[in-house]
Amino acid sequence: MKLLELIKKRYSVRNYLSKPIESEKLNYIMECTRMAPSAVNLQPWKFAIVTDEKLLTALQSVYPKDWIKSAPCIIVACVDHDISWHRKADNKDHGDIDVAIAVEHLCLAAAEQDLGTCWVCNFDAKACHQIMQLAPQLEPVVLIPIGYPADNTIPEKKRKSIKEITL
Ligand SMILES: Cc1cc2nc3c(=O)[nH]c(=O)nc-3n(C[C@H](O)[C@H](O)[C@H](O)COP(=O)(O)O)c2cc1C
Repeated sequence: MKLLELIKKRYSVRNYLSKPIESEKLNYIMECTRMAPSAVNLQPWKFAIVTDEKLLTALQSVYPKDWIKSAPCIIVACVDHDISWHRKADNKDHGDIDVAIAVEHLCLAAAEQDLGTCWVCNFDAKACHQIMQLAPQLEPVVLIPIGYPADNTIPEKKRKSIKEITL
């Protein structure tokens, strides 16, 4: 599959089947994730792959939309602020950028495997930190519900034109 086809195949899935994800698929997705580039190759990321029923239920409470409850797995992508690169000139922390690249690798790899994902950032990060019992230097950046889509219709991509996004 051409990269552009795969990019168009990935979309935000907000309804999942309860069918569990095969461990081979999850391993492949994590292999694609860990190959992501990062500033100074510091790889300042940690991923919690949550499938345990009790923990999933607790985690769902940090994002108050019912659709997330359909996902059989949620991946919590975290940045490690003790590891992330801070630019010398202004101390800008590049950890979020690194995590974002790795997470998009994850989402594209999942789409290739016919799995759906959705970036979720509008969650209660403090509550998530507590529920996941994360170390102080770890910050949960994005939740990625992942699973087989309940509906396989790929929605139309509404995007700005190349002309609109070039200066
Ligand atoms: C950084 C980021 C944060 C997002 N947070 C949420 C979110 O909290 N809830 C949600 O339903 N979708 C969220 N999305 C999904 C976007 O709404 C979606 O990617 C966008 O509308 C384009 O649609 P598509 O992913 O289907 O191509 C987020 C996407 C990104 C990249």
